[in-house]
Order: sequence, then C-alpha cells, then structure tokens
Amino acid sequence: MRDITMPWLPPSTAMAAVVGAGLLVLYLLAARVNSFLRTRHIPGPVWAGWTDLWMMRAQLSGRFCFLLQDANTKYGPIAKIAPNWVVCGDAEELRRIWGVRSAWKRPFWYRAFRFDPYKDNAFSTIDDQIHEKLRAKLMPGYGGKDVDNLHELIDQQVAGLVTLLETKYLSTKTEFKPVDLARKVQYFTLDVISALAFGKELGYLVADQDLFRYIQTTESTLPFMLTIGFMPWVLRLIQSPRLKFLMPDIDKVVGIGSVVKTANQAVAERYGDKPVVKRDMLGSFVANGLTREEAEGEAVVQIIAGSDTSATAIRSTLLFIITNPLVYRRLQSEIDNGIKEGRISSPITDTEARNMPYLQAVIREGLRMWPPATAALPKVSDKDQVVCGVHIPAGTNIAWAPFSFLRNRDIFGKDADAFRPERWLDIDPAKYRAMDQTVMMEFASGSRWECLGKTVAQIELNKAYVELLRRFDITLIDPTNPWTSFNAAVFIQSDMNVIVTRREA
Ligand code: HEM
Repeated sequence: MRDITMPWLPPSTAMAAVVGAGLLVLYLLAARVNSFLRTRHIPGPVWAGWTDLWMMRAQLSGRFCFLLQDANTKYGPIAKIAPNWVVCGDAEELRRIWGVRSAWKRPFWYRAFRFDPYKDNAFSTIDDQIHEKLRAKLMPGYGGKDVDNLHELIDQQVAGLVTLLETKYLSTKTEFKPVDLARKVQYFTLDVISALAFGKELGYLVADQDLFRYIQTTESTLPFMLTIGFMPWVLRLIQSPRLKFLMPDIDKVVGIGSVVKTANQAVAERYGDKPVVKRDMLGSFVANGLTREEAEGEAVVQIIAGSDTSATAIRSTLLFIITNPLVYRRLQSEIDNGIKEGRISSPITDTEARNMPYLQAVIREGLRMWPPATAALPKVSDKDQVVCGVHIPAGTNIAWAPFSFLRNRDIFGKDADAFRPERWLDIDPAKYRAMDQTVMMEFASGSRWECLGKTVAQIELNKAYVELLRRFDITLIDPTNPWTSFNAAVFIQSDMNVIVTRREA
C-alpha cells in the first residue's frame, strides 16, 4: 500500500487517512439519506429530494420564478425543490408565515445580500431584534415623513425621462428613432433612487448611458449572488474575515464600486465636525440615529433594492398596456378627461393619481401579472410546522412563488392569466380587499419585512404612466418579440424596442 498509493506516508498514517476518508464519505451519505427522509413525504421533483441541483438549475435557467410556479402547479401548494427547501404558492399561508408575530424568521440565505461581505444592511440582517431596531430608524425617511422634497425629486426625474424621449427618441412621419424603453426606464429608476439616497441623481437620463457600467455589472453579479445564497458554505467562505486578504475591496469593484464611492461621499458630508444637515432621506437616517457605517450600507441597498424592482414594474406594465388596445385607449381617455376637467396637474400629483380608478386598476393588474420581486425570499422556523396541511420539519427553508398566488383563479377569477384591469372595477368591496391584499404581498405588505421603498415605488408608478401617455404614443416595433426577459430571481430585461411619437392634440 505504501508503495502504490501513498509512498510519502508511513503505513499507519496512510491507513488512518483511508479510514478517515471512508468515514467522511459515510457521514456525508448518512446526512444525505437523513435529509431525504426528513422531507420525503413532501411532493416534488425526484432529484430535489437528494441534491440542490434542481434548485440551482432553476436559478441559472433564466426561468426561476416560472419553474417555482410550475412546481406548485404540478405538486401542489407546497413542493419540495431541494433537500432542505420547499416552495409555497398559497397566499393565505404565506401571509401567516410572513406575519408580524409569526414564529418564522429570515434564514442564512439573506446573508447573500451583504453588498459589503463584512457588514449587514436592512436586507441582509437575519437577527429579528437588530432588524426591527434598524427598520425603526429607516422608516421615517423611506415613508417620506422626514423628507421635504420626496415628490419634487421624483417629479424631476419623470421630467428627465420625458425630456430624454422628446429630445432624442421622438419618431415622426419622416424620422424613425427606435428606442429600448427597458433601458431608459432603468435610467429613470436609478436616477430617482440616487436622487433620494444621495441628494443628487447619478445622472443616467442626461448621460443616456450605463454610467460606470453599473447596469452591466449588476446584471452579471446579482444572479451569481443569488445563486450563492443557496450555498451557505460558499457564502461563509466569501464573508469570512479571515479570508479578507483574498477579496477585492467593494469600492474597487467595477460598477457597484462607483455607487459605493458615491454613497460614501454623500454620507461623509453628513457626519464629522461640521455635518451638513438636510431634511432629505439621508438626513432622516442621520437624525434617527444611523451610524455612518450603517448609512453607507443603506444608501447602497436603496440603489440595488429600488431600481430593478420599480423598473421591472414600469416596463412590464407598459408592455401590457401597449399590447392591449382596449386598456390603452381606456387609460388614455381617463388621462385626457382628467386633464380636460382640471383633475390632473402637470406633473400629476400622487393624490390626483390615487383618485384615478382605471389607473389604479392598471397599476395593480401590472404588478399582479408580472411581479418584480421574484427572489426566493425564504423563511425558516426553529420548530416543526404545518403549512397547507403538510408537515414542515424545523430548519426547512420555505420560499415563496409570487407567480403562483398572483395567478390564483379562486382569488382573481377564471381569467387570472389575462391582463384585465377591469377585474378591479365595480366589484364587491370585500372581493377588492382580498385581491388587493394578495397583490400587495408583492411588497411583503403586512409583514415585519414589508418593503421600505413601497411609498417611493407607488409614487413612481402613479406618475410614470400618466406623464408618458399624456404626451406620447408608444408602439412596439416587433410584437412577436417584445423584449428579452431573463429571470434569475431578479428580472434582467432589455430590447423592449418601441417607437415613441407625439400624441395628436
Ligand atoms: C415595485 C417595486 C418594489 C417591489 C415589488 C419591492 C418588493 C420588496 C419585497 C418583497 C421586500 C421584502 C424582502 C424580504 O425581506 O424578504 C422588499 C424589501 C425592501 N425594499 Fe422593496 N420593492 C420595490 C421597490 C423598492 C424601492 C423603490 C426601494 C427603495 C426606495 C425599496 C427598498 C427596499 C428595502 C430597503 C427593503 C428591505 C426591507 C427590510 O429588510 O426591512 N424597494 N421590497
């Protein structure tokens, strides 16, 4: 043995190594069998009982949210997607799990949202008490309570989007100027969030380009980060302070690094000997006791959590509007009548938009048909639980599948797969409440993890469609190929090529 296999070791050591390796393999096998047996009563794809490969493949396929929906359709409201993971597609049960006083909490998966590997932020914080305290400091700023210019800052960016389209991309009878609306909408949401987070927009709309290659790099790194969330041991390695010397500094990474630097500069002037005091979002965070480090982290979270999601909502709702002539006509005539009757200012105010029933129906229907937040967002319990009548062993991650509950026919009707804003109009108030509560789950509403940017997102949606459609007609260039949309738990969308023309008076 010594000569053939491990000539460099004495025989007794070589034997010990072989026995050790054998024991390790046996231990790993036993652990696999044990985890298979724990959840073998839960239906799901065969391989999901034994390995994480089904889930990883789904994550990398570009169809993550749709594969979770398919799993619920095939195996029921609780389906196994990996040995220690199930997906739930039942709205009522998800509300109970996500509820304020529930026994469920965030699992280790959330640590993947540490943009700086060594610091937590609101999104990555797992500890309930720390998270609650942090939220209390963030809420007055996000909710707009402490902020004087929330609406004005958003109005300025809406005007920036309109100006960009008007000056560079307006097609006429003689000029054909196709534009990728998916990209321009993302410039808009990036400028909104940076204006709110840093007190000054990053300037995407004026530059009309992917500044610092931020979009390009986040589109390639976010799916990777979300995949690592499913591999806790890799996450532990990457975030280990002992291996820090191997990791690049976050502010030197292309794309995100420039955003981090801008965030740090904006934060720096609010602290120190002569701090600048302002009643904006950052000012609110400072006034409510955020440390400098925390404020730096939150400024970056805002950009990441708040730009892709709102951009996806606006793009997909616009796509549904412009490809549904009846909806398009009805929404434009609600806008036109509102202007004629003096109910809509220029730009439209948030309150005016909230009083437009059809617009509100369109916004809800858009979020329902194409929910922007589609990451697994799992929760875990230390105790055994029962969900949808199925026994869920302690420690099992339970992901959500928004496409499952948002297309539920019992809640939304037989035509739940169709974009039909009319379903929200002239209905029994109890039915409306039930539908609204389900759609608002997209913001994790009613939970202790409710989206902090919900107010900002709603203001953006309330203004964007009206300000675009009062001025422009938008026509899809190739309805057979409307966009490129890749779901890696976040949506990566581009090539929504349209022509924009000025509306006839
Ligand atoms: C349509 C747009 C949006 C949707 C659908 C959405 C959805 C969500 C969801 C589902 C969560 C809960 C995640 C979890 O804990 O599991 C969340 C959290 C969060 N969102 Fe949003 N979001 C949107 C826009 C925004 C915007 C515009 C901002 C920033 C201004 C933002 C900032 C945040 C932050 C900071 C959190 C973490 C909250 C916490 O951990 O307590 N979101 N969002």
